[in-house]
Amino acid sequence: MSETGKTTHFGAREVREDEKAGLVHGVFSSVAARYDVMNDVMSMGVHRLWKDAMMDWLAPRDGQRLLDVAGGTGDIAFRFLARAPGASAVVLDLTEPMLAEGRKRAGAAALADRLDWVTGDAMALPFADASFDVYTISFGIRNVTRIGDALAEAFRVLKPGGRLMVLEFSQLPNAGLQKLYDLYSFAVIPRMGQAIARDRESYQYLVESIRRFPDQEDFAAMIREAGFGLVKYRNLSMGIAALHSGWKL
Ligand SMILES: C[S@@+](CC[C@H](N)C(=O)[O-])C[C@H]1O[C@@H](n2cnc3c(N)ncnc32)[C@H](O)[C@@H]1O
Repeated sequence: MSETGKTTHFGAREVREDEKAGLVHGVFSSVAARYDVMNDVMSMGVHRLWKDAMMDWLAPRDGQRLLDVAGGTGDIAFRFLARAPGASAVVLDLTEPMLAEGRKRAGAAALADRLDWVTGDAMALPFADASFDVYTISFGIRNVTRIGDALAEAFRVLKPGGRLMVLEFSQLPNAGLQKLYDLYSFAVIPRMGQAIARDRESYQYLVESIRRFPDQEDFAAMIREAGFGLVKYRNLSMGIAALHSGWKL
């Protein structure tokens, strides 16, 4: 048992809290080399539109310092810096092989003076209080063992007036549509994982972890609980994903 004896979920499985980060690290180490191509295939490119919608709402500005947590191969940071050439960004992720893929991407070298890659945990950020203007986390927070701890850390490292934005899978508003979407994801995504990345299990985890994540209203309440104000959300593709925004007032 862990020291506290607490358990949590890892997809559909119940695991000890202290086991989860290692399991998540295993999933993303295993998929890192195929991660970008799998995202395009599984979502039929739609994840790009969702990430662009995140940038539209965020409206990056020159001079801002972004922390993109669970930033993986850098999709959010690259977009942010493209929209604000006078901004800087740090990508933090638990899984070094994901960051290594990001560093190899076209354009990474040219951004070296305003883009840093840091290995670390969303629940214990290696940064001083009040050191960022913007905190983003895209398709990352559902993997974190204690979501409340990650949100508390986001609040701590943001400057007063700073903004949090979360992109995550969410819930469809209608039970029939949700059922259809579940059928698609449980039937198709693990098979695609097997065919393209030779890794069915990691993609089985992906679809199961999506089901376990709180719906739009419950997640908004967790963000408020962490201290954020003006909390709002927008559905993407009818709620398959959602953006949540909050401010450190
Ligand atoms: C689905 S990927 C998302 C990558 C990228 N943000 C995107 O939108 O394409 C999830 C990432 O979360 C990272 N991750 C999971 N738990 C984490 C934690 N506790 N702290 C930091 N990163 C974490 C994984 O290593 C993985 O790279």
